[in-house]
Amino acid sequence: MNAIPIMRPWMGDAEAQAVANTIHSGWVAQGPRVSEFEKKFAEYIGVNEAIAVSSCTAGLHLALHVHGIGPGDEVIVPSFSFIATTNSVIYTGASPVFADVDEVTGNLDVPELDRVLGPQTKAVMVVHQAGVPAELNQIRAWCKARDLLLIEDAACAIGSRYESSLIGSDSHLAVFSFHPRKLLTTGEGGMMVTDSSEIATRLRQLREHGMSVSAADRHASGGTTVEAYLETGFNYRMTDMQAAVGLVQLEKIDRIVRRRRELAETYHRLLDDLDAVRAVTDPTCGATNYQSFWVELQDDMVDRGHVMSFMAERGISTRRGIMAAHLESACSQFASKPLPVTEHLTRRTMILPLYHQMTSDDQVHVIQALSDALTEQLWPKS
Ligand SMILES: Cc1ncc(COP(=O)(O)O)c(C=O)c1O
Repeated sequence: MNAIPIMRPWMGDAEAQAVANTIHSGWVAQGPRVSEFEKKFAEYIGVNEAIAVSSCTAGLHLALHVHGIGPGDEVIVPSFSFIATTNSVIYTGASPVFADVDEVTGNLDVPELDRVLGPQTKAVMVVHQAGVPAELNQIRAWCKARDLLLIEDAACAIGSRYESSLIGSDSHLAVFSFHPRKLLTTGEGGMMVTDSSEIATRLRQLREHGMSVSAADRHASGGTTVEAYLETGFNYRMTDMQAAVGLVQLEKIDRIVRRRRELAETYHRLLDDLDAVRAVTDPTCGATNYQSFWVELQDDMVDRGHVMSFMAERGISTRRGIMAAHLESACSQFASKPLPVTEHLTRRTMILPLYHQMTSDDQVHVIQALSDALTEQLWPKS
């Protein structure tokens, strides 16, 4: 195992105790702790409703399904995203239509939406990639003018801000991930947020097999209530053990975001002298939580694979940059227009380690290794 991992969840005794308490309570499936987590999460974001699910992928699928997206429909997505964004569209039977992204932020923008819009387009799934907020006002206005659904893949964006508002706070429907690579983790898990109580009610039924009354509510009523199955639903439930961890993590979220932004500032300072490297930063429209700290290797002479191996030899874990779904064989049946920015960014970017417990010595070590790797390739000793 590398001495400096790419990410390390910030969890401790409080999370362990919360899980132990849940186990001792005798109720471990979706129940009172999930309800409490939903309530606290909605308060944190500043929305009426939060609906917990088993993963962000499940939530993105439900977000499309609840709006009737299905076969024959097209949904615009960035290819430049983890494949779950695209997969959630495929699950509905609709077709993903890949759009290119802005070369600085890695996010969808309006000129690209214009380029790929078609007669079957029903929805847009915008991604706040790696935590960097997308240009929401412009995209919202564009969707509204065309009567298109806008879903936000906020998997990476807890604590990021569009202008001064938290991502999710002004959304029709946004979905967060609690995978361990994210700032708040429950092991696996996701949360949908909306102001619509009507949509929230249906989402709660759909995540639990389409049941009219949840298992937890039936139990609370003494077990005499008989549920009905209103439509074909899914098992996309979060467990109370996960929610117990989420409740503890949520209390720390402001500290986690603050710390990541401090660490990113240190990285920016250390990278000042490396001309061949461009690092992700705040866009003009808001503030990122730096879920991933990615850098673009701007000199074509530099081989990213060699840089990553060189750093691994020094005990530093890195990852290739964000993937491009349209290049994967899983997506080969969906034709794509050329996506030059996506293809450039996916080839030339890599992710550096960033986690709450990281020290400035660790960061110096990472940037020294990156600098040495570049020197070795650009100015090899003969
Ligand atoms: C942009 C994006 N969307 C969706 C997902 C899927 O999240 P989950 O693992 O919670 O299903 C991820 C996970 O990395 C992601 O980065």
